[in-house]
Amino acid sequence: MFLYLKMILTKIGLINFRNYKKLHLKLSSGINIFVGNNAQGKTNILESIYLLALTKSHRFGIENTLIKIGEETAKITGTVKENKIFRDLEIQLTKQQKKVLVNHTEIRRIADYITNLNVIIFTPDDLDIIKGAPQIRRNILNIEMSQLSRNYIQIYNEYSKILKNRNEYLRMMYINHLSDENYLSILEEKLIERAIQIYQFRRSFLERINKKIGIIFENITGLSDLSIHYEPNLDLKNYTDEEIRFQLISKFKSNRDREISQGTTLYGPHRDDFSFYLGDENMRLFSSQGQQRLAIICFKLSEIEIFKEDTNSFPILLLDDIFSEIDRKKKNKLLKYIERDIQTIITTTDLKDIKKSILEDAKIFDVCDGNVTERKMEL
Ligand SMILES: Nc1ncnc2c1ncn2[C@@H]1O[C@H](COP(=O)(O)OP(=O)(O)OP(=O)(O)O)[C@@H](O)[C@H]1O
Ligand SMILES: [Mg+2]
Repeated sequence: MFLYLKMILTKIGLINFRNYKKLHLKLSSGINIFVGNNAQGKTNILESIYLLALTKSHRFGIENTLIKIGEETAKITGTVKENKIFRDLEIQLTKQQKKVLVNHTEIRRIADYITNLNVIIFTPDDLDIIKGAPQIRRNILNIEMSQLSRNYIQIYNEYSKILKNRNEYLRMMYINHLSDENYLSILEEKLIERAIQIYQFRRSFLERINKKIGIIFENITGLSDLSIHYEPNLDLKNYTDEEIRFQLISKFKSNRDREISQGTTLYGPHRDDFSFYLGDENMRLFSSQGQQRLAIICFKLSEIEIFKEDTNSFPILLLDDIFSEIDRKKKNKLLKYIERDIQTIITTTDLKDIKKSILEDAKIFDVCDGNVTERKMEL
């Protein structure tokens, strides 16, 4: 039998991070639940773990609020255990800079650091993956796929650069009434090469997700037929290199004037989208909040499976406030599914409805105004 390695965050320490002055916790390798009222510091703990993994907060644009008010520096430390080896990770924050260390040695390149601790996070904002603009979905694909493949992010960055050049050139053609299309076709050739690879990457990633998501969703909700439909803005049937190349070339040709007058590239993977479907119905249009939440959580759980296949290791699952809008039965099914083999950190305002058998196996922490105490369950 093939044995997967489980990555475990065994300890976490915070100094002057958000509303925590000083905190040291030992985590369980199974389910950890942080319980408390609003604004006590539950999300701050998840945020610190996400930061320790990826060096950035999952909350956008708020990096300068990470240090506790009135303090000058902050520190997050953690110990990761993988395959019997322990690694000490550390992030030091000052108002001006951020330092990352592995086993007390500074690491200069972030890319060399971020493989030390892999995390997958679910936050209430992730509901936008179904409800929000296509850009949010493309962003999610980019983040998840770049954790899995360095190649993807490199090609994606190249594509974005060439796209920018092409758009600038289109605008210049409009302003200066240029008709020389030689430079444009050189850019197009380069763009199409990358576009082909991005389409292929995304299609195969979503295909792999689809092999898992329906089963996981059915396991938790009893509903079958959850799938993700990839919606590239080309009419692709076979996704062969030739088909994509042919379609893009003809779209560029037939929309030349439109693209020049709008100064923008109208076709390509930067306009991709995908949708969640339950049977034949688009979930964006007809599903309840709870169903959408569960579909997105199952999307993340499918990613964990893919992560496991590609890296032989489980990432840590961070679930922020997942229980609202989910009924008792599904909560417990979800916890049962997770309990199998993923280290999970959950925040919630209450434990009601969670089965005793699950609580007994979990480590429970009460969070109150920047203080955390481990709860001893009275059995
Ligand atoms: N830099 C900071 N210094 C001090 N306190 C801060 C800082 N940043 C945030 N806080 C405080 O942290 C608290 C919010 O913590 P957090 O977002 O973790 O709450 P929560 O327990 O997840 O609440 P909810 O249940 O509403 O999601 C707020 O009271 C906020 O004022
Ligand atoms: Mg919160």
